[in-house]
Amino acid sequence: MIRRYDFAPLDGITKVVFRRVWHQFFGGADRYFIPFFSPTGQHILTDRDRRELDPANNGDMPLVPQVMTCRAEDFLWAAELVGDMGYTEVNLNLGCPSGTVTAKGKGSGFLAKPEELDRFFDQVFAKVQMPVSVKTRLGIQTPEEFPRLLEIYNRYPIACLTIHARVQKEKYRGAVHLDAFAQALTESKNPVCYNGDLRTAAEVETFASRFPAVDAVMIGRGAVADPALLRKLHGGPAATREELRDFTRTLYQEYQAFYGQAGPAAQRMKEVWFYLIHLFENGERLDKKLRRSRGPGEYEAIEAAIFRDLPLREDSQGELI
Ligand SMILES: Cc1cc2nc3c(=O)[nH]c(=O)nc-3n(C[C@H](O)[C@H](O)[C@H](O)COP(=O)(O)O)c2cc1C
Repeated sequence: MIRRYDFAPLDGITKVVFRRVWHQFFGGADRYFIPFFSPTGQHILTDRDRRELDPANNGDMPLVPQVMTCRAEDFLWAAELVGDMGYTEVNLNLGCPSGTVTAKGKGSGFLAKPEELDRFFDQVFAKVQMPVSVKTRLGIQTPEEFPRLLEIYNRYPIACLTIHARVQKEKYRGAVHLDAFAQALTESKNPVCYNGDLRTAAEVETFASRFPAVDAVMIGRGAVADPALLRKLHGGPAATREELRDFTRTLYQEYQAFYGQAGPAAQRMKEVWFYLIHLFENGERLDKKLRRSRGPGEYEAIEAAIFRDLPLREDSQGELI
């Protein structure tokens, strides 16, 4: 039975402004994962990362910061830093498939070097003062790589192993590997959280009935595409048009206040609408227009047209993304 819903980190989307507004309007996430920061060898936190992590900017949400590195000393520095800020868990990113990241041996790129990963954990767990969780993929090319990785994970007291049931080369597309996940679940000595393509309440239910032993899932794109998804999973109501309009209006205003100008705020909103448009019927034409739009004026006009012209999906249990 699922007892915990984690909001996945989505870099560029679920940053501080989005989390605050989403939490205020919809909520239902038990924990929010902050998109990764990459410590530098100089051990200096950038102003941008500090703004993101600073508890003063994050209200009362339960948060888990995420670190992306392949150097134990940098991870230990980052863990101490977030510990001093009051966080009680730190997460290691072993999932990011982006070429610029994997070329440096970070994110899912680290999965290509199991011996180094083992040494990294050895050094980290010898010294770290707080619970460390891990977000991983099943491998680089094929899920058959996972047993070798799990053998390493099983040697360390990982607070929670969140498994995005894809491999690096699949990025975010294609079917998730539920059979490989099932095997990982049976063989993991650490608590496991499932992640990948849970987009509707019906999909979560189907997943939960196949995996009754799983008590935690992480949801990302589905909770942006249908902001009330986690609320519904807790028995709450679906989003109404008015609520969605207030949500997007507030989000846009908050982005403008954050950036001090409308241009970057409109750009951020377009990234949210990339997912949110699927909650409306017949959104294809305005979706295309939105993607091609330039500047805040065009964005505002298209958003107004979405709310004016498109019916909300009656039953948002359908395929959303
Ligand atoms: C735009 C985007 C940004 C992401 N940023 C991060 C990140 O910062 N850290 C991370 O661990 N995963 C990141 N992910 C992966 C998600 O956390 C999640 O594992 C993935 O979207 C699959 O879950 P979902 O199908 O519920 O969205 C990102 C995914 C997307 C699409």
